[in-house]
Amino acid sequence: MSSGPSPEQTARLTIASIARLYAAGERIAMLTAYDYPTARTLDAAGIPMLLVGDSLGQVILGYDSTVRVTMTEMLHHTKAVVRGAKRALVVADMPFLSYGVTPEASLENAGQLMSEGGAGAVKLEGGERSARTIETIVRAGIPVMGHIGLTPQSIHQLGGHRVQGKTREAGRQLLADALAVQQAGAFAVVLELVPEQLAAAVTDRLRIPTIGIGAGAGCSGQVQVVTDLLGMSDEFTPKHARHYAELFTIVKSAAEAYRADVAAGTFPGPAESIRMDAGTLDEILGRTALDRPEMVEVSRGIPLDRDL
Ligand code: KIV
Repeated sequence: MSSGPSPEQTARLTIASIARLYAAGERIAMLTAYDYPTARTLDAAGIPMLLVGDSLGQVILGYDSTVRVTMTEMLHHTKAVVRGAKRALVVADMPFLSYGVTPEASLENAGQLMSEGGAGAVKLEGGERSARTIETIVRAGIPVMGHIGLTPQSIHQLGGHRVQGKTREAGRQLLADALAVQQAGAFAVVLELVPEQLAAAVTDRLRIPTIGIGAGAGCSGQVQVVTDLLGMSDEFTPKHARHYAELFTIVKSAAEAYRADVAAGTFPGPAESIRMDAGTLDEILGRTALDRPEMVEVSRGIPLDRDL
């Protein structure tokens, strides 16, 4: 089974492209991206959907939770990702309280992520509680991805990063949330930190793709935080993440080698330096007959070789 459309395909993917992958039974690989160079690289790798997640609050901006992320920050990073990814569908997270307070504000903020940010879809958290908001945004022509299970913007209510849906009541609520999101018109739904059997059961009962993170292999696709995938931090890595590279170690060694070369005077070397014509340098520094003492005003106070 292929992992998505071929990287050579150049037209921007849409939710219709994602629906086609889902209908063809292809597992969809999604990654977060927060900046231009990373978006370019992930796009070149053929990742069909990029999420400008509000996880940027923690992994890029150093906040302690996603709750601190603002619309201004989301817009700034969404624009960078859209400029970098020419082909992937870019989904922008709606930050905390940018939706669900009033329908007007939800619509205005979703619209801004699309029209100013250039996103192809937005994502927002919550199942039944967010169904009306999803409906309002979808009715305005904006594709919405849902997000249920662990919803990081409610972390203060949930009491921590805990697996969701583990009891009869919580599991039933998760099913109800998934159906409500689908019914409201979402084109896909993220399932975060849910037991794999329950996530697979939700996936079986929906006709839109489920995109899992910490929800097992039975989902229609997977999403990972790119900094986890690339091993960009020496701090905590969640259990559900796999390091496909160890960039923290690689970047640290590179920076150490650079620091040592600068200290030793071996960087830059001839290959990284630009030389000029020796005659022109003599002219600049006043070493030629052109710079006779009577023409001293030409030097404009600059110490030339003859003055030293
Ligand atoms: O913000 C984010 O990165 C997310 C993923 C965890 C799905 O919402």
